[in-house]
Amino acid sequence: FIRVTDLDLAGKRVFIRADMNVPVKDGKVTSDARITASMRTIEHCLKAGAKVMVTSHLGRPTEGEFKEADSLKPVVDVIAQRMGKNIRLIREWVNGGFDVAEGELVVLENCRVNAGEKKNVDETAKKYAALCDVFVMDAFGTAHRAEASTHGIAKFAPVAAAGILLTEELEALEKALANPARPMVAIVGGSKVSTKLTVLEALSEKCEQLVVGGGIANTFLKATGHNVGKSLCEDDLVPTAQALIEKMTARGATIPIAVDVVCGKKFDANEPAVLKDAGDVADDDMIFDIGPKSAQEIADIIMKAGTVLWNGPVGVFEFDQFGEGTKTIAMAIANTNAFTLAGGGDTIAAIQKYDIYDKVSYISTAGGAFLEYLEGKVLPAVAILEERAAG
Ligand code: 3PG
Repeated sequence: FIRVTDLDLAGKRVFIRADMNVPVKDGKVTSDARITASMRTIEHCLKAGAKVMVTSHLGRPTEGEFKEADSLKPVVDVIAQRMGKNIRLIREWVNGGFDVAEGELVVLENCRVNAGEKKNVDETAKKYAALCDVFVMDAFGTAHRAEASTHGIAKFAPVAAAGILLTEELEALEKALANPARPMVAIVGGSKVSTKLTVLEALSEKCEQLVVGGGIANTFLKATGHNVGKSLCEDDLVPTAQALIEKMTARGATIPIAVDVVCGKKFDANEPAVLKDAGDVADDDMIFDIGPKSAQEIADIIMKAGTVLWNGPVGVFEFDQFGEGTKTIAMAIANTNAFTLAGGGDTIAAIQKYDIYDKVSYISTAGGAFLEYLEGKVLPAVAILEERAAG
């Protein structure tokens, strides 16, 4: 695809689709990582003398019904503060009727409120396209959605290019997956096998060690004949877990199974943590973390790896007493010489909690799009850029 950095943007009307879908509380942005990540493309276009428009979705608003809570105002406040000047936020923009000066940035209100946005209606996409000379897709976090501002506009804009963040995200994923330094280790945590099954299947064919964590690991413990008590476990997927273990073993790869676990009796912030051998889990136990022996084993694997891909914590790390496993893994990721790539909301929360943000080679800004890429799915918003570049 064409990259924004390859284009002459002076005097051009540039429409950037960013993913600034950030958490907002009481009108304030509580985590600005996605805004920071979007600023490079914005600043590049401004420096190049373009007339810059940027939009994003925020939340999942009802189409055609703008409410104050849907507004990008909190995002604009962050950008304005960064840039040290006022930034115009344009509420009604689909039909144009506003001017942007060269070297000026305007923010176009939450695009997901627009009629036809979510369903990727051509008429809406054509209106967006009519606003610009160059469309820049930089919303990697929304690249798995074919919507009018991520996909439709790219069909109709005079030029459609990839932004700096989108390009960087794809390069990091390619480095980890297409031709990874070996051994390659993937850590997939989270509560359910069912929501990550395609990811697990895709990664099981690529990596030397597939570390499963959280509720997912319980199904694998059960698949290897362990009692998991009252732990979160998907019984119907036990045979699937067995098949995955066999498939990996057959090609000399492994899914390490925990030898010790940290249990409680109920899901509660004050629940005491009890360390047990994986074979000693009682019928009324709930597994909330891996034990120190298992965590150390995974840490050793990470230290010897060439590539580590991390999505999902291995325990209930929001409760400190069940966070030691995730902490040990985070520390190994911070200290290994491997290329490390992490993504997903819970994973980033763990990275922040254990303060290793600067020690991970690449942290994706995406959740769903990151997972779909791992599954090997085509990201429609990227595919259309490639189609346009191919002519
Ligand atoms: C995300 O937060 O994963 C992206 O911004 C996409 O949001 P969505 O799932 O509401 O489309």
